[in-house]
Amino acid sequence: MLFDSHAHLDDSRFDRDRDAVIRAAKESGLQYILNAGASLTTSVKAVNLSEKYEMIYAAVGVHPHDVKDMDEDTIEVLKSLTNKKKVVAVGEIGLDYYYNHSPKEEQRKWFKRQIELAKEVNLPIIIHDRDANQETFDILKQHQVGDIGCVMHCYSGSVELAKEYIKRGIYISIAGPLTFNNAKKVQQVAREIPLEWLLVETDCPYLTPVPYRGKRNESAYVRYVAEAIAEIKGISFEEVAETTTKNAKKLFRIE
Ligand code: NI
Repeated sequence: MLFDSHAHLDDSRFDRDRDAVIRAAKESGLQYILNAGASLTTSVKAVNLSEKYEMIYAAVGVHPHDVKDMDEDTIEVLKSLTNKKKVVAVGEIGLDYYYNHSPKEEQRKWFKRQIELAKEVNLPIIIHDRDANQETFDILKQHQVGDIGCVMHCYSGSVELAKEYIKRGIYISIAGPLTFNNAKKVQQVAREIPLEWLLVETDCPYLTPVPYRGKRNESAYVRYVAEAIAEIKGISFEEVAETTTKNAKKLFRIE
């Protein structure tokens, strides 16, 4: 059993073979996939995928790249999408000061607004943080998001910060970069953060793990992330697969 806690199977790179990719994921031992939204369009696509495929659940939200086009109407549409049965989170939301595709001020405003939305509808949140570690932490702390549930998607920060997150009931999700030779920081996170606080993800089609690095990523490859965690922690693959699946089900409140 495995749970890919963050995928973008709605991406056009899967248009040719989406059915086959999802079938391959199932055959490789995956039980669940969370498809994250990144805009209104991809949030609707995520919901559609969750209605078509039993193993897929959806998150709806607007990525910091795209918040510059947001307004309160967008929030209302997102809110109505959260009524769908298999929408289990708001995300991915957060801050991205690496690309700054949206002005920082807008990013902060809509990050906080989407956290409030998640609180209104009582759903956990999925966080994107790039080059905004401290500010992301401060906002999450201020909003006490441990109460609704929260996961740091594709975590790339320090082990010290990760410890501050788990203290507040926030999960850490590990992606493909863990398998790269130079990924010392995230390897330390995988070593020192207890398995009870870890999730695994692909973020496919991005961040392809070794041995497929350079190719399109897909959900079936989440096993390479779980294998890397098992090796680093010196425990079995089965234990990592089972516990991270249990963690994700608890966070997303899937029975
Ligand atoms: Ni993503």
